[in-house]
Amino acid sequence: MQQSELREPRRIIVTGGAGFIGSNFVHHWCNQYPGDRLIVLDALTYAGNRHNLSSLDGHTNLRFVQGDICDRLLIDALLQEEAIDMVVHFAAESHVDRSILGPGAFVQTNVVGTFTLLEAFRQHWNQAGQPTNYRFHHVSTDEVYGSLGPDDPAFSETTPYAPNSPYSASKAGSDHLVRAYYHTYGLPTLMTNCSNNYGPYHFPEKLIPLMGINILMGKPLPVYGDGQNVRDWLYVGDHCSAIDAVIHRGTVGETYNIGGNNEVKNIDLVHLLCDLMDELAPALPVRPSRDLITFVKDRPGHDRRYAIDATKIKTELGWTPAVTVEEGLRRTVQWYLTHQDWWQPLLSQEYQEYYRKVYA
Ligand code: NAD
Ligand code: TYD
Repeated sequence: MQQSELREPRRIIVTGGAGFIGSNFVHHWCNQYPGDRLIVLDALTYAGNRHNLSSLDGHTNLRFVQGDICDRLLIDALLQEEAIDMVVHFAAESHVDRSILGPGAFVQTNVVGTFTLLEAFRQHWNQAGQPTNYRFHHVSTDEVYGSLGPDDPAFSETTPYAPNSPYSASKAGSDHLVRAYYHTYGLPTLMTNCSNNYGPYHFPEKLIPLMGINILMGKPLPVYGDGQNVRDWLYVGDHCSAIDAVIHRGTVGETYNIGGNNEVKNIDLVHLLCDLMDELAPALPVRPSRDLITFVKDRPGHDRRYAIDATKIKTELGWTPAVTVEEGLRRTVQWYLTHQDWWQPLLSQEYQEYYRKVYA
């Protein structure tokens, strides 16, 4: 018997469900739990894309609503008319470089938006008599823990917060609000802090799709600083299965760190990607792709190393990542090669202006 047959159908708002991880999560959830009702609430900012969900257009239990998580009236109405019992909250401004150019939107969406959702869900939960099966799942990042030295132990759930960018500071603010709503009001919250994701539907401004697309166009590959910064990389499907595990088996009020056990230096990752593109792309303007690597001015305040200690989610919930970085990168490269019609339109005038500002 499948897990979906053992459970009551849920009625869920997924915020940011047209973005990178949110849309992968919506695909995952619709496949695993087709009897659940899903309301995707997404403002369709530059990072949101209705096409990320177009293969689910015939799914009768899926409703898309274009709207802002700061719009309290809209959220109240959706919670009530859809009799929602769970919010899975992905919506955010998510790119560090954009947070350096303009932090205001990050405070608005990540802090004020999360506060607005929490307040609306608290009222809704109270009006329903505080049912114990309601959940508010907050999706967050390892970046709230700050930067590690080469020999520091990996981030655990008890590592003190030390955010360094406007992005991570605004996510830290939202995490603190979620924590406070559990401790003060008993709101049934769950929180996950995950490392760097990659995979299908990743917006071209982030490292892996940016490098892959630049290789296809024969453009320079801008590696920040000395390229020795370390990130822990997790295939997006593994992130979705981890959130699924936490929603179904996690303890209310708890935080779970999610990571891939894949610490890689940026320059090594770019080398891997170049070699994969040389192998898999039929025609490239420049070959070998490594010839395109260009070291550029470092990102201000660039965190040196992130690493996740995922012992808690492994021992308590039995979750481990299923996809190695080699396999995940191969799948990702193949996806971008066969989905040029998805990413070509994203290289818009707005994107070119953003690119000039960051890489000028
Ligand atoms: P993304 O930028 O690809 O998608 C964000 C989505 O949120 C977009 O669809 C956008 O339209 C929507 N959105 C933005 N502002 C909104 C608003 N005010 N109201 C409604 N919708 C709004 O981001 P992502 O990479 O998919 O990240 C999703 C979540 O996961 C974020 O909370 C992020 O902090 C977290 N996270 C990301 C990573 C990563 O590697 N990308 C790692 C760990 C955690
Ligand atoms: P990114 O994908 O922006 O994720 P984050 O900053 O949230 O970790 O960047 C991943 C790493 O790659 C980070 O150390 C910054 C670096 N990077 C570059 O070297 N060049 C680039 O053009 C980009 C976008 C990132």
